[in-house]
Amino acid sequence: MRMQNYQDFLAETLIDQVTLQNRVAELGHELNRDYAGNDNLLLICILRGGIVFLVDLMRQLTVPHQIDFMAISSYGVNARESEGNVRLTLDLQTNIHDKDVLLVEDIIDSGRTISKVLKMLSLREPRSLKVCTLLDKSTRREVDVPIHYRGFDIPNKFVFGYGLDLDELYRNLPFIGVVDLEKFQEN
Ligand code: IMP
Ligand code: MG
Repeated sequence: MRMQNYQDFLAETLIDQVTLQNRVAELGHELNRDYAGNDNLLLICILRGGIVFLVDLMRQLTVPHQIDFMAISSYGVNARESEGNVRLTLDLQTNIHDKDVLLVEDIIDSGRTISKVLKMLSLREPRSLKVCTLLDKSTRREVDVPIHYRGFDIPNKFVFGYGLDLDELYRNLPFIGVVDLEKFQEN
């Protein structure tokens, strides 16, 4: 597979590494305060976009916590993404009944994905269920979602890096960049 240098299609750096790390530390402080004394916290990461954020965030936590992962596909039987059909492709290994669940997400756009996931998880009767997202494209929201912890509200631009991919690549970049779609060549 040919790999383009990201500098060739980086329109702008939206959030640099230091700003990201400072904000993740602040979110960690908020969580340490809000979940103080809690020994039942479970962080759930939806693969794959949320993993970089999850790992940096958990290193800021002093409250004891477990982690688990789930994967979903946004395509339904008719393959129309806009309908927001969410299919579970990897389930949790943890029984979340009576756990304080915090869903750790990379980005919330229309809100359809997270809203389906929240419905799915609430059926399992966790003790509490909250959402922590690094990025929020709030102007794109179509479905109302409760967001308890938010890193940054961002404009309606397609972003990559820090977990977010372009054709499954560039998740490792330590900053959030905006892609120039005319310069980015899809594989
Ligand atoms: P929603 O269901 O519309 O809220 O979609 C959320 C999902 O869309 C995220 O988990 C991402 O996988 C993807 N997504 C939305 N905006 C972006 C973006 O700017 N870059 C990369 N992925 C994105
Ligand atoms: Mg995602």
